[in-house]
Amino acid sequence: MKTFTKTYLSAQAQQQSLAHHRWIARTNPDVRIPRIVQVRPTEIDFEHLEGRHGGPDDLVALANLLGHQHTSAHTRELHAARLDTPHTHDTITITGFADGRRERLHRLLASGTVPEPALTPEAADDWLKQAAIMPAAFYKDSNPRNFLIADADVAVIDFDSLTLAPFGYDLAKLVVSTAMTTGPLPEDAIRRAVDAYNHHPRQRGLPGCSWREFAAWCEFHHVLTTPYLGTNGYRFSWHTTRPSWTTDVLRYLDKESAP
Ligand SMILES: Nc1ncnc2c1ncn2[C@@H]1O[C@H](COP(=O)(O)OP(=O)(O)O)[C@@H](O)[C@H]1O
Ligand SMILES: [Mg+2]
Repeated sequence: MKTFTKTYLSAQAQQQSLAHHRWIARTNPDVRIPRIVQVRPTEIDFEHLEGRHGGPDDLVALANLLGHQHTSAHTRELHAARLDTPHTHDTITITGFADGRRERLHRLLASGTVPEPALTPEAADDWLKQAAIMPAAFYKDSNPRNFLIADADVAVIDFDSLTLAPFGYDLAKLVVSTAMTTGPLPEDAIRRAVDAYNHHPRQRGLPGCSWREFAAWCEFHHVLTTPYLGTNGYRFSWHTTRPSWTTDVLRYLDKESAP
């Protein structure tokens, strides 16, 4: 079998990736992921999958997949999780939403290197506090290079990162990182992506992600992904590509009806 070998910086990082792969396989059993063919202390041989990376035309299909993944994981397991507490199941512990992320947000916001953030450190803390009691989904770094698309089949790859996150957070990563790769996205495509995503939690009686929450999570990703601008194919900063409603909806507390 053709394989794709991934090398890790440490045996611990490799172990963590294996645990994440097992967890995704269990909580998203109908989602295509590469099989693990062989394991060495700092390497994993994954089944090689054919396909291209995601792009702007795939937003709605990928949003649909993410909504399904998050709702499936919530229904099967994460309904018992609190976002501000690490979630342990068998041999895996998934870190809480604020763990590490709060410090990174504060450090980057204080550094002055993030162009035009629509988020103050206080606002970031407030969102993290609000998130603590939101229904739990997960973040697995949904940048467009972590999907392999072949015709109508989408496979999910890259098991390095996994944390608890509110519904909509990893969708916002997909939208921000796609815009950072290819430039401004049609506003209608973003609206349809959020709707396609929310269809899944709402079918299960869960609230999904509001426009305001989505806008806030986009700003989190703006701050956290800015250090990678100029690498990984990121050629555009979110502050030059974001739709104006995303900052308006955060600025005016009474505005919920975007876009
Ligand atoms: N199982 C696989 N089959 C084919 N290509 C893969 C596979 N896993 C990763 N790749 C390719 O390698 C790239 C980087 O792999 P990824 O696991 O996302 O590592 P990174 O940590 O560098 O983001 C992916 O974007 C994809 O193009
Ligand atoms: Mg990757």
